[in-house]
Amino acid sequence: MTVTPAKPTAPIELENQAPDRSALMQNLDQKAQKYHIVTFGCQMNKADSERMAGVLENIGYRATDDANDADLVLYNTCSIRDNAEQKVYSYLGRQAKRKHSNPGLTLVVAGCVAQQEGEALMRRVPELDLVMGPQHVNRLDDLLAQVYAGNQVVAIEEAFIEEDITKPRRSSTITAWVNVIYGCNESCTYCIVPSVRGQEQSRTPAAIRAEIEALAAQGYKEITLLGQNIDAYGRDLPPGGIGAGIGGKITLTDLLYYVHDVEGIERIRFATSHPRYFSSRLIHACAELPKLCEHFHIPFQSGDNELLKDMKRGYTHEKYRRIIDQIREIMPDAAISADAIVAFPGETEAQFENTLRLVEEISFDLVNTAAYSPRPGTPAAVWENQLSEEVKSDRLQRLNHLVNQQAAERSKRYLGRTEEILIEGINPKNPNQVMGRTRGNRITFLNEQKPELIGQVVTLQITEVRPFSLTGIRI
Ligand code: SAH
Ligand code: SF4
Ligand code: F3S
Repeated sequence: MTVTPAKPTAPIELENQAPDRSALMQNLDQKAQKYHIVTFGCQMNKADSERMAGVLENIGYRATDDANDADLVLYNTCSIRDNAEQKVYSYLGRQAKRKHSNPGLTLVVAGCVAQQEGEALMRRVPELDLVMGPQHVNRLDDLLAQVYAGNQVVAIEEAFIEEDITKPRRSSTITAWVNVIYGCNESCTYCIVPSVRGQEQSRTPAAIRAEIEALAAQGYKEITLLGQNIDAYGRDLPPGGIGAGIGGKITLTDLLYYVHDVEGIERIRFATSHPRYFSSRLIHACAELPKLCEHFHIPFQSGDNELLKDMKRGYTHEKYRRIIDQIREIMPDAAISADAIVAFPGETEAQFENTLRLVEEISFDLVNTAAYSPRPGTPAAVWENQLSEEVKSDRLQRLNHLVNQQAAERSKRYLGRTEEILIEGINPKNPNQVMGRTRGNRITFLNEQKPELIGQVVTLQITEVRPFSLTGIRI
């Protein structure tokens, strides 16, 4: 970690020194401090924000919905594409300005842009107090102690992610994220994630199970196990641990068997799957374990083998199709979603059409699409065969059109059906409705003003279908 005193001399290394928390405590004692967190990016970031909110509440902060009313504003940032990154700078600019008239304001940038930019970010926005990478989430209190001792702090070195002893402040009381593996060891040529999230670190099965048991005791009903490449779970753990086959390493499938019987938890999901490592044992486990929801999120990125090779994805479109065929053979109605990138460097019209063909032939419930965005330090960013903005937006539109058509088509199969919905809350856009999701992850509304249903699994008959949501009545 680099700690720069407010009146900068040379940066000091404070590695291994116990932080002095008296300044932090003194600062917090002065008045009830309020925090505001803005989260960009993926489920990992959402989970991290909940943990950072937990740390802040643990040291006496309370939440406010209004950034302009907060004493501490934290942006948990995403750098997966350039537009995600730019959004942060515009938000940050406004708060940096506010700091000039409100010097007591503490400004923090966490997450993937923080990790990517490090000290450069501090130089670009000198009003910042703390720039911290995703591996430092659990240490937010110690880092703030350094800040309140009068330093500007940059914490981005590779770190062992300690087990979190603070309770996250979760945004839902029904569904919860549970990290199982941090980081990513793949080297997809377009992707910033490995450089901002670091090496894979699996949590132990015992720690994961303990967190799930604690969630069940608090009344949570659904958990989603998280990893950027969740199929890599366990490969960095020593062989022969709890849940592993004799002498072997534990895998995601073993973990699912190991945590499946936690009483009170009714649904289990996991994401994100990687076609390179996806196993048929996993499909069988999902079919066999009743709490495992019939939904698979397996990004394919491209339907063209040449491009998949350039992306270093490690599979062919044939292999991807075999995975989907196998899932559908065993669970014909499973929901399948994916991610895809269009206009990767060098993508020809014919190669793009291979992506369209794959989507056409598989028929997905949802595909998150994006035009390729060059990311700093990634191999593909410096290739000379970049495509124009026109090609990017044209291909994105054509793919989106197909994807939306398909989602509408796939939604139709729910009409008239009986579905189990776990009610998660009141529809924020219509207080007369409660809402939840099917096992296949489709948002479903129920026209009843009954908050007491929250947390219950209700059986609905689906009466209306839209591409990405359903409405039903109780039967
Ligand atoms: N770990 C997951 C996804 C991580 S990022 C996986 O391996 O699939 C989420 C999605 O963002 C990716 O699936 C990809 O479709 C998209 N993405 C990542 N880098 C991108 C880039 N440079 N430009 C455009 N989209 C990108
Ligand atoms: Fe990025 Fe590839 Fe890792 Fe997914 S598997 S996070 S796309 S490097
Ligand atoms: Fe974005 Fe970081 Fe997630 S780059 S997608 S927040 S891992």
